[in-house]
Amino acid sequence: MLNSAILMMFLYSNFVSLTDVEDSTEFQEKIYKGKDVTRKGAYPYFCSIQIPNDSDVRPYEHYCGGVLVERNIMLTAAHCLINASLVSQFHILPNYRHSRLIGKNDPIFKVKNYVIHPDFLKQRPMSMYDIAVVQLDRPDTRTNARLQLASRRLPVDTKVKIIGFGITENTYLSEVLKEATVIIKDDKKCLDEKTGFEYAPIYNFCTQNSVGAGGCYRDAGDPAIWEDSRSNISYLYGVLSSEQTPCRKFHTDVFVNIFAHFKFLNDVFIQFSRDQFGCPKPFNY
Ligand SMILES: *[C@@H]1O[C@H](CO)[C@@H](O)[C@H](O)[C@H]1NC(C)=O
Ligand SMILES: *[C@@H]1O[C@H](CO)[C@@H](O)[C@H](O)[C@H]1NC(C)=O
Ligand SMILES: *[C@@H]1O[C@H](CO)[C@@H](O)[C@H](O)[C@H]1NC(C)=O
Repeated sequence: MLNSAILMMFLYSNFVSLTDVEDSTEFQEKIYKGKDVTRKGAYPYFCSIQIPNDSDVRPYEHYCGGVLVERNIMLTAAHCLINASLVSQFHILPNYRHSRLIGKNDPIFKVKNYVIHPDFLKQRPMSMYDIAVVQLDRPDTRTNARLQLASRRLPVDTKVKIIGFGITENTYLSEVLKEATVIIKDDKKCLDEKTGFEYAPIYNFCTQNSVGAGGCYRDAGDPAIWEDSRSNISYLYGVLSSEQTPCRKFHTDVFVNIFAHFKFLNDVFIQFSRDQFGCPKPFNY
């Protein structure tokens, strides 16, 4: 039923071994077809979530994307956090210079606390609630390193940017942050994609673009960014959950729609703030 593809590729990414990927022609199929981000200081709020790798040269490797919405609060896909023992080992690298390689002087953040959407994995489709909020161990002190949440629903055909370090057409993971402009499709078209992937209208939105750019392996958690051309202010509109695979062949990405999850996000923000200020417990009779 649920086509092997998509969500599961991320969800059970541990089962997609590197040898599988490298041995098959799939390796050549991976796309992002994005452009390198070269503008200095662009997307400071993007985060590379990294997991340990036993290699001496690169002890950590990129695993998922994330986005800072407050100085110490990052949003990502819920399925990036399903392995609690892995979460405790995360190194989070905010975007200082469009590289996923951790430099000697880079500040590395750890996870202090996190909340996965309570309905994730309890309801199909799984992409519906594939969102989580992570509290970092300390704030990122850069003043512009946060992205505001979009406060309205965007119409079909709106262009959004996606950015990430996932695999590209010709490498395993991209060394340089990549970006692509994609277009929001209507719910009907997203549902009509007869490729077996699950899609929840309203809770999700899907995107495509004419050259087939899109997310691929290890792009989960990447933000969809909308820039309001009247003000030039950028907003977070979605968090990447899944895409049709192979990415070479299909070009539809499924995002969790931030606009549909305000209540969850606000509840978690309030919970984190209360924890931080040590609010008094309710009086016990
Ligand atoms: C560590 O990185 C190397 C090179 O990128 C890769 O081949 C290897 O599979 C990675 N190990 C783990 C445990 O992910
Ligand atoms: C969860 O992460 C730990 C620590 O990296 C790893 O040993 C374990 O195999 C993972 N569990 C699953 C189900 O992937
Ligand atoms: C937005 O950016 C464009 C291109 O950089 C610029 O021409 C325009 O004046 C900016 N608008 C505002 C409101 O800042």
